[in-house]
Amino acid sequence: MAGRNCMALLLLAALSPIASHAADCGDANSIKSLDALNNSVNGRIHVNAPFSLPCFSSYEGRAVEPDAAACQAVQDNYASPTFLTEYPGAYMNYQDSMCSSDPTNQCVLDNTNPADPLAYVGKDCRQGDIPSHYLEVMDVCDIQAAFSFSRSSGTPVVVKNSGHDYLSHSSQKGALALRTRHLQKLEYHHAFVPEGCSAGEGDKYLAITTGAGVNCDQAYGFADENNVTILCAYSETVGISGGWVQTAGHSVLSPVYGLGVDRVLEFHVVTPNGQDLIANACQNQDLFWALRGGGGGTFGVVMKSTHLVEPRIPMVTANIAFTSNSTTLLEWMAIMLEEAAPWADAGWGGHITGSSLIYVNPILSMDAAKKSMKKASDYATSHGGSVVFKHFDSFYGFYEEYVVTNAATVGNTRLPGSRLIPRSVLDSEDGRKALMGFLEGIIAAGNSPYVPVTMPTVYKPDGDNTTSTTPAFYSSLWELGIGSTWAWNSTLEQRLVAVEGLNNKTAQLEAITPGGGAYMNEANPFTPGWQEAWWGKENYASLLAIKNRYDPDRLLRCWRCVGWEESDVQDSCFKAFNN
Ligand SMILES: Cc1cc2nc3c(=O)[nH]c(=O)nc-3n(C[C@H](O)[C@H](O)[C@H](O)COP(=O)(O)OP(=O)(O)OC[C@H]3O[C@@H](n4cnc5c(N)ncnc54)[C@H](O)[C@@H]3O)c2cc1C
Ligand SMILES: *[C@@H]1O[C@H](CO)[C@@H](O)[C@H](O)[C@H]1NC(C)=O
Ligand SMILES: *[C@@H]1O[C@H](CO)[C@@H](O)[C@H](O)[C@H]1NC(C)=O
Ligand SMILES: *[C@@H]1O[C@H](CO)[C@@H](O)[C@H](O)[C@H]1NC(C)=O
Ligand SMILES: *[C@@H]1O[C@H](CO)[C@@H](O)[C@H](O)[C@H]1NC(C)=O
Ligand SMILES: *[C@@H]1O[C@H](CO)[C@@H](O)[C@H](O)[C@H]1NC(C)=O
Ligand SMILES: *[C@@H]1O[C@H](CO)[C@@H](O)[C@H](O)[C@H]1NC(C)=O
Repeated sequence: MAGRNCMALLLLAALSPIASHAADCGDANSIKSLDALNNSVNGRIHVNAPFSLPCFSSYEGRAVEPDAAACQAVQDNYASPTFLTEYPGAYMNYQDSMCSSDPTNQCVLDNTNPADPLAYVGKDCRQGDIPSHYLEVMDVCDIQAAFSFSRSSGTPVVVKNSGHDYLSHSSQKGALALRTRHLQKLEYHHAFVPEGCSAGEGDKYLAITTGAGVNCDQAYGFADENNVTILCAYSETVGISGGWVQTAGHSVLSPVYGLGVDRVLEFHVVTPNGQDLIANACQNQDLFWALRGGGGGTFGVVMKSTHLVEPRIPMVTANIAFTSNSTTLLEWMAIMLEEAAPWADAGWGGHITGSSLIYVNPILSMDAAKKSMKKASDYATSHGGSVVFKHFDSFYGFYEEYVVTNAATVGNTRLPGSRLIPRSVLDSEDGRKALMGFLEGIIAAGNSPYVPVTMPTVYKPDGDNTTSTTPAFYSSLWELGIGSTWAWNSTLEQRLVAVEGLNNKTAQLEAITPGGGAYMNEANPFTPGWQEAWWGKENYASLLAIKNRYDPDRLLRCWRCVGWEESDVQDSCFKAFNN
């Protein structure tokens, strides 16, 4: 994909001055107080109230008036991603809004029964890990002003888009949140030329530009209106330009079309050192590479990103399911392990959830699809299950029918703990045996495996070093793991036990996949040796150098993001779990 004439383009870029993007932001560079910042952004700094506050009659020790109607709406929509995503002070996973290390510092409801008065009657609503203020970002000057304020006041800044982050990267106590949801640009290009690149025939792309606040539902809808296919998450509300594309961005179509990072063509980004930049294959290549996998909230605030899209693609889907017990679930998983490599080579992508799978294939015919899935469909049929193959004219039909209803649940505490499983492990009998041992353990404990099968397999990247995500993505077939949770009213001791269990599982998977890696967005937040696990040693060293170039004052400091330092743990709501 990206520029076959890359050398020539690089030379051109070096010789010709590239149009500057610097917006005129007046005195955005000398802002010392929150009031001055508020003035400079026309009053768009707001107090960031916790989502559940309307149910409480006390907020940070002060009496407040509960709002029954607003409380009812919060209770009714406590696990609704489309509702949550519109609230600056709401997060999909409650470890992001609690101060996890201090169970008294939170403002949450009982997620098993949001109407449960035990959670809020006579209780104090506390800010937890929710940033104190937020700025509804409208333009480049807002961001430059916020960085200026952060530099002179020492107030941390954090970027908040949809609030899906499992590792609390879009929340942070005491911070100013830069909320991007209102950046709603959507633009279709039938011949996109990255800015500063020369437009050879091979370098014009079918593409869509998405503002930082656009989510997958909006991106899928806009692509469909333009009769093209865009890759995004298995979710309505994950953002396309934020943490998804900046960390890897896997999709059920990634086996054939690559990851989000493989397909992104350009970013418009404002960096903490105050620059307003375009990053693509022809300018600011270091930053472009870093944004293609180095993680969200680390190198700057992306205003918009441009993604390669495909023409409308018809596809075949398989939905195979049966009701299992622990014996038949293990037999089913053995089939999943044996078929992992042949299915990957055939272009299948999807998710295994316990004794069911939902897969899509954009390259096989219906007949070939049925043949390829035969072992799984025979097993399910012989155990009283159901087998449904369908043809869709486009991804959008599949999205509406399957993705919307099968996305991962939100509205609770959910710590991820996954590891990428290399093809070499799945290909070897010993490897599959070791994985069966892991699965036996989690199934015996009453858990159900959840496996995104979304790694690039048929797709081959266009070079050795085009993206900075963990290289393990390109040699793996599965993302396998076991998450953990704790109750809304759990004690610190209970939380510590949950994390210890998670760490044990992580260690088991690491032992089975030595030298492999994990997808930072969906990894155990407390992974030892996280730098290497999430990026690889070599990528991490390069990413750190780029981080220091664009954010020398370390204004952006999320939990174990590139540039995070051990001493940062003191300020973190995860500090009790550090290892
Ligand atoms: C229900 C659910 C389903 C998911 N499905 C998938 C999936 O199918 N595939 C997949 O790959 N991942 C998936 N994820 C993981 C998801 O990609 C990450 O949680 C991702 O970080 C979300 O990014 P966001 O911008 O939407 O969320 P946020 O929580 O708002 O932000 C996440 C990170 O990105 C940063 N960020 C956000 N916007 C910007 C910006 N404009 N500029 C710079 N930094 C920014 C934030 O600071 C933070 O570090 C899923 C997560 C959940 C909870
Ligand atoms: C910012 O200014 C607006 C308009 O003057 C005001 O309503 C708002 O309360 C201010 N924000 C803060 C956090 O003081
Ligand atoms: C990959 O590219 C980046 C950005 O240009 C560079 O910093 C890094 O050193 C490269 N890594 C390797 C292994 O070539
Ligand atoms: C949509 O795209 C498909 C595949 O490229 C093409 O066959 C079809 O004619 C297009 N439809 C419209 C209405 O443009
Ligand atoms: C599980 O189900 C299978 C067949 O559906 C049955 O033969 C077996 O006895 C069951 N095992 C347990 C432990 O219930
Ligand atoms: C937590 O809440 C549940 C109800 O969801 C209740 O049954 C339990 O006793 C509470 N635990 C503690 C430690 O208060
Ligand atoms: C984690 O593993 C250790 C060592 O094997 C064990 O002692 C401990 O009980 C385990 N903890 C949990 C919560 O599983």
